[in-house]
Amino acid sequence: MSRIVVVSNRVPVPAGNAGHAGGLAVALLGLMQRRGGLWFGWSGAVTETAGGDHAPPAFAQRGAVGYATLDLTEAEHRGYYTGYSNGVLWPMLHALPHLMVFRRQDLETYRKVNHRFADNLVPLLRDDDRIWVHDYHLMSLPGALRAQGVDNPTGFFLHVPFPGPEAVAVAPGIRGLVQDVLASDLIGFQTATDRDNFAATATELAGAMRTGDQTMEMGGREVHLGVFPAEIAASEFAATAAAQVGLEPTRLLAQSLRGQALLLGIDRLDPTKGLPERLEAFRRVISRRPARSATMLQIAAPSREDVLAYRRLRAEVDSAAGSINSEFGEPDWLPLRLLARPQSRDTIAGFMRLAKVGLVTPLRDGMNLVAKEYVAAQDPADPGVLVLSRFAGAAAQLGSALLVNPHDAEGMAEAIHRALDMPLAERQERWWASWQAIAGATPEGWGEDFLRALTPDGLERLPVAGM
Ligand code: F6P
Repeated sequence: MSRIVVVSNRVPVPAGNAGHAGGLAVALLGLMQRRGGLWFGWSGAVTETAGGDHAPPAFAQRGAVGYATLDLTEAEHRGYYTGYSNGVLWPMLHALPHLMVFRRQDLETYRKVNHRFADNLVPLLRDDDRIWVHDYHLMSLPGALRAQGVDNPTGFFLHVPFPGPEAVAVAPGIRGLVQDVLASDLIGFQTATDRDNFAATATELAGAMRTGDQTMEMGGREVHLGVFPAEIAASEFAATAAAQVGLEPTRLLAQSLRGQALLLGIDRLDPTKGLPERLEAFRRVISRRPARSATMLQIAAPSREDVLAYRRLRAEVDSAAGSINSEFGEPDWLPLRLLARPQSRDTIAGFMRLAKVGLVTPLRDGMNLVAKEYVAAQDPADPGVLVLSRFAGAAAQLGSALLVNPHDAEGMAEAIHRALDMPLAERQERWWASWQAIAGATPEGWGEDFLRALTPDGLERLPVAGM
């Protein structure tokens, strides 16, 4: 069996290293631990090197997984991660171009860091490795590897959405990046819409040609496109949620509600998550319901605080929350609890089980695994209702949720009222349909599907996903 080489910006670094693992890294960790292989990426550290020289990768072996990680310099972190990845690509890919802040030197640095990743990875590669590159931070990497003569099977998976050609074209430098992604053998997306948008963009901006539903041609090479919706370990999450009901954090939260219905939102504090819009919908809901009948708990963990849009958002969300509580609060009751401190995944599972309504209303989201976790956490005998943005990738699979347009505060408020008042039989029916969509899947299965496709045989027989 060939060795798997995963390349991602974040690496779930072994204990002792002060990195943090995002959703992407956690999803891949189980698969890599079982299969073994090499994981290459950023160490999470920002260091200054004497004379601008770069240190070689640091190595750590933990079980069957070898980790090779690079530090970034201050300037690399600013240009590649904060600047171009999160200040240009992230807002563009989520169709929020007004949040883009472009500086030409950031694009330069983005390319240089991608090439530095390639330079350091190439000497570590073996002939039969399969290389799997992840996400928008590393769009230049497949091209950089090919330029160095690497002809190993190379896959690229985009965890975030991909909009249509007109929306993509606003990002300076994107044409070259799309061409670099097209150096892959297999490009994976969360939804068929993302795949088709990419194909249209590759045709219009990068000179590729679509030759089939799942194939394109670029410079005489065939490139395969596939749809691989990210999954959670649903049964495991359900068991965790059920077990948490008896434990302190969930018990204390339940006690504090004193019979009120709980509405719950769990997000990184990110402009794509639609938090001000969600708070506006909640304001409308609470203005029409009796005091002490419902409480909203919103956990919004600060993220990417080097990016101005994120700092502004925090002030906006704090202020909106304050005004809801000052307008509708009573001496003995506040309708909204806003927490910046993140909670553990297990604790969140318990909170989800308690919540009558799960609010997952991003303006745009690649998948949004919180939506799947909320479904998995429910008590089948008395499930809560998921209010889900139709612009989250998860909506393609969870059509039985109450789907909303997050830009329509009144429509969202109506959906929340409906969720709060929904009869048990309808809640059960909707929940069951959602559960069916996620129950059999696991993150490992998702990864294995992609890796199976990244073989000569697999590329010929790519599963057709019509979502
Ligand atoms: O959604 C994309 C993503 O990379 C997730 O996989 C991850 O959870 C999140 O963004 C974290 O972002 P960052 O690495 O910038 O902290």
